[in-house]
Amino acid sequence: MTIQRTDKVLQVSKLNPNVVNVEYAVRGELAIRAEQLKEQLASTPGSLPFKTITNCNIGNPQQLEQKPITFFRQVASLVDYPDLLKPENAQITSQLFKPDAVDRARTLLAAMGGSSGAYSHSKGIPLIRKHVADFIEERDGYPANPEHIFLTAGASPGVQLVLQTLIQNSNVGIMIPIPQYPLYTASIALFNGKAVPYYLDESAETFGLDIVELKRSIQEARNSGVDVRALCVINPGNPTGQVLTEESMKDIIRFCHEEKLVLLADEVYQTNIYLSTLPFHSFKKVLKSLGPAYEGLELISFNSVSKGMVGECGRRGGYFECTGVSDDIIDMFYKVASVSLCPPVQGQVMVDLTVRPPKKGDPSYPEYRAEIDAIYESLKRRATKLAAAFNSLEGVICPPAQGAMYLFPRIVLPQGAIDAAQKAGKQPDALYCMEMLNATGVCMVPGSGFCQREGTWHFRSTFLPPENQLDSFIDSVAHFHNSFVKKYSN
Ligand SMILES: Cc1ncc(COP(=O)(O)O)c(C=O)c1O
Repeated sequence: MTIQRTDKVLQVSKLNPNVVNVEYAVRGELAIRAEQLKEQLASTPGSLPFKTITNCNIGNPQQLEQKPITFFRQVASLVDYPDLLKPENAQITSQLFKPDAVDRARTLLAAMGGSSGAYSHSKGIPLIRKHVADFIEERDGYPANPEHIFLTAGASPGVQLVLQTLIQNSNVGIMIPIPQYPLYTASIALFNGKAVPYYLDESAETFGLDIVELKRSIQEARNSGVDVRALCVINPGNPTGQVLTEESMKDIIRFCHEEKLVLLADEVYQTNIYLSTLPFHSFKKVLKSLGPAYEGLELISFNSVSKGMVGECGRRGGYFECTGVSDDIIDMFYKVASVSLCPPVQGQVMVDLTVRPPKKGDPSYPEYRAEIDAIYESLKRRATKLAAAFNSLEGVICPPAQGAMYLFPRIVLPQGAIDAAQKAGKQPDALYCMEMLNATGVCMVPGSGFCQREGTWHFRSTFLPPENQLDSFIDSVAHFHNSFVKKYSN
């Protein structure tokens, strides 16, 4: 007997409302439509006015033909298939792999007890956490404690673990930038907290972070009774691509100290830096540089193997470091991490490789250096070219990318488009992006998916399309834009 739909236990109306309320634009309506179109292209080639879908909706470099770093994949393969390390296979292995890849695989295998298929410590393999601590120490010039580092399945589960632990009740507020990466609004909704928005100051040059706005935001939230406990900063920014100056970071630290806030520093784009005048500084380093007066500040910093030049999003590797956080809280994080047993061991291997790449003099160094430099230079060229292309479109203003993987142009839409969107029950920039997808196969995310100042419209595009396809990509977006403006200006 088939159970009638109304008799089902699983009905949306009976689910956890926090789950029902979650929105996640980068994988939302546009991404779903892109999947449908991809299937249509596969099943009925020639039925659409374009040949492929270009996914610019998510910072997923290897989906857009970025090659993985050879050394990283070599070590990962050896770890996953240790038979290659047996003496009887030495000849074949030495033809395929350089000695430093073999040595690294042996070290990692020993550290994980012989197999990447075994659960590890819930905070991650101790040796890899030690390597992360060494990396942080070298980057910042201040000590790091491996016991204060948690390896995670990408930065997202780390952020979620911390938010879940922090949000004591539905009145707890977390300050987040607007525009923001939707992980934050989605996770705060999931754990039933309150997102307290602070607005980034948009200009033709960048999206600035202003202390006056932070003060306004916290005051307004506190006046309405919200118990604000943390401030989240994304640096370099997503979707906005700005890089904070050291001075601005000091102001943020002082603000958190005065207002008794935990500082959550999302630093997943720390190597995606494109201007020599705006280098990356970690919040850990800037905090330590301010001396003992700020020692008490609680800082949690996130990093990932998904971004940078590594781009190993699917491997799911990342970590967070706790600074100034009490041991009993670290024990709580450990308990929550233990519920998921451990982060993926392959992801942990990728973390190890990211923080301890080949060094000058190692056999794999020349190839590694050449690959990293080629990806970096290409990203920089693509960022510049795409920003110039967007800026040449009527009604579009696009600040250059100082960092990260995205451009976030503002668009002035014709009134006709705004009216049509209203009629269709959509945000105007969502209508723009949907029509672009249907006409060109290019999938971007509307600014409304990241929140934005009332009455402004944007779209976010990665600058990840392969360089040899960039010209045709730009042509098709420009052609669409002009037709869209014409269609809705009449
Ligand atoms: C700002 C920011 N934080 C966190 C993440 C999550 O990355 P992952 O979970 O793949 O490490 C992303 C992904 O795009 C991001 O842009």
